[in-house]
Amino acid sequence: KKIVVLISGSGSNLQALIDAQQRNALGGHIALVVSNRASAYGLTRAATAAIPTYTQTLRDFRSQGKSREDYDRELAHHVARHAPDLVVLAGWMHILSPAFIDRFAGRIINLHPALPGELDGAHAIERAYEEFKAGSRVRTGVMVHYVIPEVDKGQPILTQEVPCREGDALEDLEQRIHAVEHELLPRAVRLVLEGSE
Ligand code: GRF
Repeated sequence: KKIVVLISGSGSNLQALIDAQQRNALGGHIALVVSNRASAYGLTRAATAAIPTYTQTLRDFRSQGKSREDYDRELAHHVARHAPDLVVLAGWMHILSPAFIDRFAGRIINLHPALPGELDGAHAIERAYEEFKAGSRVRTGVMVHYVIPEVDKGQPILTQEVPCREGDALEDLEQRIHAVEHELLPRAVRLVLEGSE
């Protein structure tokens, strides 16, 4: 089974997928890593694992007077060429338009550092931490869900609650959440690929 992974940053979740693949515990292999930032360290992780990479920045498209739709269509074209069984958004920081999502409907999953229905959108960990510090009984954690046009709203595949503890600094909560992400994402990928014929 072929997997394409989209990243924007350090790629520690991509690394978890690479490590799972090397243990034959991923249920498929990563055929391509796509980044929207040329400086994403995840590109180095992919290259080290001899995985092909493709970078497409919004800035390039904007400088050519192209639209966000053009960007998503071009991105979908490059991803579709690999005929992926699964597209994994692992720290991908762009909202994808239907132009992309419709191409791979039902075969795109996203990792989000919060629980379903809570703290949708960016900076979820920081927001959970602020709410916790303000005394609210916020629950947080990690989820992997199917991607639909509405951000972070698709059907959950796996979720796991992560406690915020008195005396936690933001970094403590971030580390606790990332550790769960690195275990949950490979498990969700394998689950989805085993379920898909
Ligand atoms: C992860 O916390 C992910 O849930 C969020 O961005 C972060 C990406 O981290 N969307 P990395 O690039 O995988 O290290």
